[in-house]
Amino acid sequence: RAEPLVLGIETSCDETGVGIVRGRTLLTNTVATSMDEHVRFGGVVPEVASRAHVQSIGPMIEKALADAGVTLDDLDALAVTAGPGLSGALMVGAAAAKGLAASTGLPLYGINHLAAHVAVDLVAPDSPGLHTPTIALLVSGGHTEILRIGDIVDDIELLGATIDDAAGEAFDKTARLLGLDYPGGPSISRAAAGLLDESGVPGDPTAVRFPRGLSTKKDLRDPERRFSFSFSGLKTAALRTVTAAEAAVSAQPTGTSAAGEASVSGTSGAISSGTAGASTAGSVGALRLADIAASFEEAVVDVLVRKTLLACADTGIDHVLLGGGVAANARLRERLAERCEAVGVTLRVPPLDLCTDNGAMVAALGAEIAARGSAASGLGFGVLSSLE
Ligand code: KG4
Ligand code: ZN
Repeated sequence: RAEPLVLGIETSCDETGVGIVRGRTLLTNTVATSMDEHVRFGGVVPEVASRAHVQSIGPMIEKALADAGVTLDDLDALAVTAGPGLSGALMVGAAAAKGLAASTGLPLYGINHLAAHVAVDLVAPDSPGLHTPTIALLVSGGHTEILRIGDIVDDIELLGATIDDAAGEAFDKTARLLGLDYPGGPSISRAAAGLLDESGVPGDPTAVRFPRGLSTKKDLRDPERRFSFSFSGLKTAALRTVTAAEAAVSAQPTGTSAAGEASVSGTSGAISSGTAGASTAGSVGALRLADIAASFEEAVVDVLVRKTLLACADTGIDHVLLGGGVAANARLRERLAERCEAVGVTLRVPPLDLCTDNGAMVAALGAEIAARGSAASGLGFGVLSSLE
């Protein structure tokens, strides 16, 4: 089969990624992130991301070519993320790619970012080969979807997505509320593992009952909701939990249960008073920070795992691929692996540096499309902020 040399550009969110592949061999994967510039906002600011892409895109392309030891003349094709993503951010990558295509005459492919998250496994050093059909669970700071992949180029079906916040965004927002660092996912995981308080005792995931969005029997019966997610209620619930836990401390200094709507069953030694700002001391009012974090993490993981396996059951597909930055969550990988194993489904998680947004995933899908001799996208395609 043909082994096209393809350069891929990814700028849908805060990573400026340029990757180069030869067929299914990864030559280089260069990524610059503007994450540091978003820290003080507690989330990705589109305008800031776009500006950072403008600065980084040129140097990243030059670096990728140098790292791979190839020149523009050697390339067979170019690929760039066309969406979904932040439109201003996508435009920077698309404009750069079109400029390169116009000046070199190389064919250019506009790439679906979600398909690219799956296609990246084609170039993973430890790849068992991309098994199709597969159900894909994609979870990041910018998106959360369940897809059915019959073929990575021309048979991709969106089964469901989040109707509000992305899973990673829920981690980021709740971490902020708890006074934890951005990005919130790793912070909440560390807190849940008990690593942010002196005791080092892992949190109790059953301490606080956080809502499982769109998971009632009625939701699951509704085809429009069965594979959809909603995480925006979680941050409200987290806020209520914090408020109630703090109120419980001022009301009854030795109390072990919080008032209010949050149902608190944990009694594991939380003492000190304080606000969310006191979370570094290991407690939020009457609750242990570790318990809140573990319970929150469990709520997110629960729905992700449950709906992914429902998708397998409905479609009869016995392979799952996990992608996106939230794949770094150990609890998610553990629970998903357990449930998959229990029902005879094979779980595949590409190396984590390939799960987060990068250029190699775009190049990988571009190479697959080019190898099949598909027509290029031309220079007239637009960027799409959403899939539908
Ligand atoms: O794919 P990614 O690197 O970038 C974009 O979404 O653009 O994903 C980043 C997201 C952030 O929301 C971050 O909080 C989340 O992934 N994340 C995690 C973990 N590590 C990163 N979420 C939960 N647990 C983690 N260990
Ligand atoms: Zn992504």
